[in-house]
Amino acid sequence: MSHPTTIHPLKPELPSGYTFIELQSVDSTNNYAMAQVHAGLAFEGNVFFAHHQFAGKGQRGKTWAAKPGENITMSAVLQPAFISIDQQFLLSACIALACNDFLSKYLSDKIFIKWPNDLYINDRKTGGILIENILHGNKWQWAIAGTGININQEIFDAHLPNPTSLKKESGKTFDVIHLAKELCICIDKRYRSLINKKNNEIINDYNQRLYKRNEIVRLKKDETIFETLIKEVTPQGRLITVNTIERSFDFGEVSWVI
Ligand code: BTN
Repeated sequence: MSHPTTIHPLKPELPSGYTFIELQSVDSTNNYAMAQVHAGLAFEGNVFFAHHQFAGKGQRGKTWAAKPGENITMSAVLQPAFISIDQQFLLSACIALACNDFLSKYLSDKIFIKWPNDLYINDRKTGGILIENILHGNKWQWAIAGTGININQEIFDAHLPNPTSLKKESGKTFDVIHLAKELCICIDKRYRSLINKKNNEIINDYNQRLYKRNEIVRLKKDETIFETLIKEVTPQGRLITVNTIERSFDFGEVSWVI
């Protein structure tokens, strides 16, 4: 595990209470942040950013690969003890919205959230979110909100179905650290709305940005592929679809068929 090379305490462009900790190389910023929390060395608002993440973790046990120096790979330490564990999806929605807000500043194209929390530009994935939690009994103590956003990377592993980056979509090269700090500001704004119990606003905004909303898509449940219309996502994070009847699915129950 590498140690911080630079610590930027409370730079003016960061929201108050946030500290941006820049690491050269770590296995996973989520792992690093988690270890710091367990060691009593991390606090709410600490954001661990890595230039190189050599064993990045994705959703569902997958890996997350990001070319060193070209992308945002960072994890924010949060203490969402003010919401209950069964409201976990609200935090996930907030982080997805923060990333969506951030991307929308740079692209006039359509920026979407693909349920539950993939970050899409048109039909291509530009980032993802992995939130890992520390619970104490049925109380939420810590959340490590990891975000991976492709910024300047132009060449991707051939096995990825539809990757893209801010550079690929805009033709511009970006200052990754500057953008990571802007993302902190977006996270802070959305996290504050969670603190202020703006749950309806969060879910409405999430649904407004929902990928393929009101469109017919193909989903797979067990071994069956079916066509259905995407209606909305509930505050608990269930996907509501309609064809002849309305159905709802938990994350993990169905997968997208591209
Ligand atoms: C996904 O599979 O879509 C989620 C990807 C999440 C990647 C980020 S990069 C920063 C943080 N550290 C990790 O190891 N994973 C998350």
